[in-house]
Amino acid sequence: MSTSFTIEVHTDKEDSLDSLREDVLTGLTSQPKELPPKWFYDKHGSDLFERITRLDEYYPTRREREILETRSQEIAALSQAESLVELGSGTAKKTHLLLNALEKTGQLQEFIPFDVSEKTLRESAALLNQHYPSISVHGVVGDFQHHLPFLPQSQNNSPRLIVFLGGTIGNFKPKERIAFLNQVASGMKPKDTFLLGTDLLKNKARLEAAYNDKENITAAFNKNILRVVNRELQADFAVEAFDHLARFDQKNSWIEMLLRSTRHQTVHIGALGIKVEFAANEEMRTEVSTKFTQETVKNELDETGLKLSEWWTDPADDFALSLSHLCNSTILR
Ligand code: SAH
Ligand code: TRP
Repeated sequence: MSTSFTIEVHTDKEDSLDSLREDVLTGLTSQPKELPPKWFYDKHGSDLFERITRLDEYYPTRREREILETRSQEIAALSQAESLVELGSGTAKKTHLLLNALEKTGQLQEFIPFDVSEKTLRESAALLNQHYPSISVHGVVGDFQHHLPFLPQSQNNSPRLIVFLGGTIGNFKPKERIAFLNQVASGMKPKDTFLLGTDLLKNKARLEAAYNDKENITAAFNKNILRVVNRELQADFAVEAFDHLARFDQKNSWIEMLLRSTRHQTVHIGALGIKVEFAANEEMRTEVSTKFTQETVKNELDETGLKLSEWWTDPADDFALSLSHLCNSTILR
C-alpha cells in the first residue's frame, strides 16, 4: 500500500493578522472587554496547554484518556472508519488510542488532523506519519469556524470518524456551538460518525481548581494572549499588571477565564492606532469552558440533525464521550 504525507494550509499570515485585528478591535471596544480564545495557541501557548493537560488539577485530559482506553475498540468497530478526521487535534496525544484500534480493524487508510496552530499541527502530523507508516496523514491548517467546508470529503462514500476531543466544544458560546455543529453535520455522509468529548457539570470547587492550578501554568497560558497581541499588533499590554481569574458561572454552566487589570492603565495597540483604557480591577474575558450533562449534549446534537447513539463516561463521571450520526442514517442503533 502506498501512503502519503501532506499538509494543506488555509490560513495565510495576512488573513490571520486581519482577523486578529478585527477580533481585538471589536473585543477591546466592547463593554465588558473580551478576547476570543483561538489566539492563545501560538507555539508557546500550545506548549503551555500541553503542560496544563498534565496538571493534577486538570482532570479532563486524564478522564477522556481513560474513556478512550476502555472504549476505542468499540468505537472502531461501531464506526468502521476508513478515515479519521480530528478537529482541534493539537499534539494529538490521545489520538494514538483511536488510531491503534482503527488500525487493527484493517480498514483505516488515512488520518486528517485539523488545527489552527500550524507549528503544532506540522509537528504532530510528522510524528504520526512516522508512527503509522501504513496510514496516509493529511494535515489541514485552518480555523474551524471558517474552513470546515475545505476538509477533504470521503472517497466513494467510505465511512469517516470525525472526532472533536478535549472538551474544546465547550469553548464556543451557545450560538457558535450550534453553528459549528451544523457545519459538522452538513459535511457528514450517512456512513460517517461523530465522536465528541464534553466535560461534565460537577462541583464548583473542582471545576474552578482545574482552571486555577497551584503552579500557575493556567495563569501563564491565559496571559499568553496578551503577549500574542503585543507581538502581532505592536501593543504594549503590561502583562504583569493583569491577574488570572477563573470563575464558575452557574447560570451559563461555564467556567469563565478572565484577566483582571490590577491598576488603571492605558494600552496602545500600534497596528490599530488606538488607545484602550483599563480601570483598576476591570475584568476582560478570554475564554469560556462550558460544562454539560447528557441531556444538554443530546439536545444540542438533536437540534443540529445528529442523533446520539452512545454515551460513555469515566468511572468518576467527570467527562463524557458521545458517538452520534446523521438522524436519517441507520449506521448505528
Ligand atoms: N484535542 C487536544 C487539544 C485541545 S486544545 C486535546 O484534547 O488535548 C484546543 C485545540 O484547538 C488547540 O490545539 C488549538 O490550537 C485548537 N483550536 C482552537 N481554536 C481553533 C479554531 N478556531 N480553529 C481550529 N483549531 C482551533
Ligand atoms: N479546551 C480546554 C478547556 O476548556 C481549554 C483550556 C484548558 C483553557 N485550560 C484553559 C483555556 C485555561 C483557557 C485557559 O478545558
